[in-house]
Amino acid sequence: MEKYVAVESVSQVFDTAHGPFTALNNINLAIRKGEFVSLIGHSGCGKSTLLNLIAGLNKPSSGVLICDQREIAGPGPDRAMVFQNHSLLPWYTCFQNVYLAVERVFGASETKARLRERTAAALELVDLAHASSKYPREISGGMKQRVGIARALAIEPKVLLMDEPLAPWMR
Ligand SMILES: Nc1ncnc2c1ncn2[C@@H]1O[C@H](COP(=O)(O)OP(=O)(O)O)[C@@H](O)[C@H]1O
Ligand SMILES: [Mg+2]
Repeated sequence: MEKYVAVESVSQVFDTAHGPFTALNNINLAIRKGEFVSLIGHSGCGKSTLLNLIAGLNKPSSGVLICDQREIAGPGPDRAMVFQNHSLLPWYTCFQNVYLAVERVFGASETKARLRERTAAALELVDLAHASSKYPREISGGMKQRVGIARALAIEPKVLLMDEPLAPWMR
């Protein structure tokens, strides 16, 4: 089995005011290319903690995480995250929020026109072309989540990490 993402003996212990708190204890997971994996568990069981580790936003207390045969050492455009809390920049429009990510990833090699085209296509994909020039405060929770999905898809990541991405769509 060719594994693309691997989580090997990963533990995550947080230092808290009440002492160390073990959020993940010896987690192992192997994901192949093209595989679609859902992490299911009660609130607080460690789903976001594991996603943050794969995203490279946190370092594990022990164990290793691997993506495409390299140890995950930090965030990268190969792994895009759709955050549970949207994480959109409030002073940017929907278009600008997506464009910012597109610019970071493709800005060095592509024309501004092409970057704008990529941004528009991603917003179109989540049916938000009409809201391009709106600010996050002017759109619903579900729409914000879709901007986050557009932003993640727009950078053509190898791995798409989504933290409870569908719940707000139901609102
Ligand atoms: N930075 C942190 N410091 C201390 N405890 C944390 C931290 N992040 C998460 N936790 C705790 O770890 C557990 C798992 O959290 P989380 O991964 O967010 O759960 P969920 O499965 O709901 O996404 C929870 O008990 C949470 O309180
Ligand atoms: Mg969570």
